[in-house]
Parts: sequence; C-alpha cells; structure tokens
Amino acid sequence: MAGERIVFVDDEEQIRKLLSTWLSRHGYEVTLANDGWEALKAIRAKMPDLVITDVNMPNMNGFELTRRLRADHRTARIPVVMLSARKQADDVLTGYAEGADEYIPKPVEMAVLSAKIEVLVKRFRAIHGETTTKRGGNVILFVHGKGGVGCTTLAVNSAVALAATTIYRVTLLDLNLEFGNVPMLMNLAPDRTLADLAEEAHTELDDATFERYLTQDRSGVKVLAGCDTPERAELVTVPAVQQAIDHLQMQSDYVVIDAPASFSQQVLAALDVADAVIIVTAAHLPSLKATKETLDVLEKLSYPRERSVLVVNRTSGSGVEMDQIARFFNRKPDIVVPFTPACDDAADRGRPLTVLHPDSAAAKVMRDLAAQIAVAAPSGR
Ligand SMILES: Nc1ncnc2c1ncn2[C@@H]1O[C@H](COP(=O)(O)OP(=O)(O)OP(=O)(O)O)[C@@H](O)[C@H]1O
Ligand SMILES: [Mg+2]
Repeated sequence: MAGERIVFVDDEEQIRKLLSTWLSRHGYEVTLANDGWEALKAIRAKMPDLVITDVNMPNMNGFELTRRLRADHRTARIPVVMLSARKQADDVLTGYAEGADEYIPKPVEMAVLSAKIEVLVKRFRAIHGETTTKRGGNVILFVHGKGGVGCTTLAVNSAVALAATTIYRVTLLDLNLEFGNVPMLMNLAPDRTLADLAEEAHTELDDATFERYLTQDRSGVKVLAGCDTPERAELVTVPAVQQAIDHLQMQSDYVVIDAPASFSQQVLAALDVADAVIIVTAAHLPSLKATKETLDVLEKLSYPRERSVLVVNRTSGSGVEMDQIARFFNRKPDIVVPFTPACDDAADRGRPLTVLHPDSAAAKVMRDLAAQIAVAAPSGR
C-alpha cells in the first residue's frame, strides 16, 4: 500500500523526525503536528487515513484528541494509534476507552507499528474508499425542527407501509435517544437498545450478535430502539450510531431513522449516509420557522434537494394555508397529511394508523409518502 495519508502528532522533535522519515520511506504521506490541537486542525483541513498520536503533549493530549475525533461525525471513524511511554494498565485502558484502535508502548517496535497501520488503513478504506460501491439498503432519515409535529408517527407508518409491500426488508432505528417513542407507537418492549450495544462496545460485531438488539414487529419491520432511559442516552456515541446503521443497511432494503428535533452529531452521522431526508413540519408558525431553518441547514450542508421530501403534517384542525406555506419556504410541500383525530387513538393503542385505520385519509397519504420515499431513494431490488 502506498500514498495513504497519516497525521503523526508528537511533541518530541526527535521522534517526529525518526518516525516520519520511516513512514515516508514506506510510501505514506505524512503530516506532522506538535500537539493535539495542531493535529485536530490538520485533520479537519484534510481527512487522513490514519492518526498516530502520542499521549502526553502540551495544549491537548492524545486522549483528548481522540475523544474529540470520536465525537465528531466527520472524524469519528478515522483509525487512531496511540504511542506512549505510559504503559500502566490504567493508561492503556483509558486509551481504548477514548476510542483508540491500538495502543503501542514506546519505544516503538517498527515492525509491529507497520503491521497495525496496514490492517487499520485497509479496514478504513474498505468502509470509506471512494471506489467502494454502496453496501446495502437505503437510509431514510426523518427530521424535524420543532418537536411534536408527528415526525415519529410518520416514520413508523412509512416503515410499516414499505414493509407491507412485502417486497422490501425494512428496519427502523429510533435515534431519539432521550425520549424515543418508536417502540411505544408499535406496542413493542425491546429487551435491548442501541445504548446497550454501545455500552458493550463490540469491536468486531457479527450479524448474529447484532440481531439480538433488534425487535421484530408483526408488520415485518425490525426495530432498533435507541435507549431505554434519558440518562443513558450519552452511551450512544457517534461511532456506535455509525456501526449500527452499517449493520442495518446490510440486512435491509430500507433503514428508516427517526431523529429528534436536533442536529446532534448522531443525527449528522445519519445524514452523512442518508439517501433521502424527510422533513416534517406542522402548519403553525413556530414549526414553520424551525423547518425553514432546518431546510437552510440542509442547503448549507449541500444536501441535494431532489433527495428531500417536505411533509406538512396537519396535527390540528387549524393552521396556515398551503399557498402561504409554499411561499414561506419558496418550495411547494411534497406531501400534506390531513388532521386525523384517529392518530392519537392509534398512538394510545400502540398500533400504526396505517394498520389500525387503513382507510382513513391520513393513512392513505402516509402510504403515498412511502411510495414517494421509494421514488426519492429507489431500492436496488
Ligand atoms: N395528522 C395528524 N393528525 C392528528 N394528530 C396527529 C397527526 N400526526 C401526528 N399526530 C399526533 O401528534 C402527536 C405527536 O406525534 P409524534 O410523537 O409523532 O411527534 P414528533 O414530532 O415525533 O414529536 P417529538 O419531537 O417529541 O419526537 C401524537 O399524539 C400524534 O398522535
Ligand atoms: Mg418523535
């Protein structure tokens, strides 16, 4: 292998020189940094294939650098090798807990470092390489700017409607980590959640193990709940979300994701791989304003408009008229869901509206939404 970019950060000049000469000789393109802060800037400016970091450094040490890389959806998956003279079990465990892929004691055994680099870079490239073809199903992300606009209701019903075609294998991820209610709307009581999966920290997660975290609904949709209690939400790290989406994609044609009303790093990680984004708004000013801001963020992130579906959900009997809404967004909404009191009834009974009241006007529109999803993000089937 040659040409891979490595950022090497160490505050000791002699080690920087020694290692960078060796790495360059072996065909790697090396960028050097004196401390974590400098490394972070270099990494954000141009994504490397691997980071090698010392632990003890001024300004920002290697633990903090790794923590920051793992917390940002753009850099969460870059392989990190820690090199350190600190060899106590405590230090090594801290390194791994912060997200290091390898912890190598100093003085460095070059043959060992070389072997580790090769394995990590190969694995990273397999996931991220530009040449890799898309693996697995389409990711459909449901977002909303203001809470309580029926985002989860629509995500659940779309997933169920897609599964009802019997053509598609559908999974549903509840990314509302603090107050998720996907399982409740489907009357499911998952034994395990993504928080448990993250806590158990599987480095190599096989399909059979991952399957144990899913709960099958009678519609055929398999649900991965985010978290059981709000205080455990922080267990769900950005890499955990990325790993879960990878696995869901491998086993389904559509991975429907219900996001909270936020652009958290976890939601941005889902957006990075989303084949379509469904933006849900109510027809009232506070929600419309938040939705406009959400659309602006998507535009700033260069998310292609043709892969977004704008849904106005009439969660009450009143609201702003449709032509005014279209003018406000400078865009005609793609779908308008009518106000349906039966939505609350369905929620209270833990049954999706499309199943409980399939003939209601709202259920029909929800099926249209599922059809539109299949158009915005056609499955390979
Ligand atoms: N078209 C509709 N007509 C009437 N009620 C609706 C409609 N759509 C959703 N609702 C009701 O609105 C409430 C909020 O729905 P839901 O939980 O799906 O919103 P949300 O946007 O996901 O909220 P949060 O931001 O808290 O996650 C529920 O009680 C639901 O039954
Ligand atoms: Mg919700």
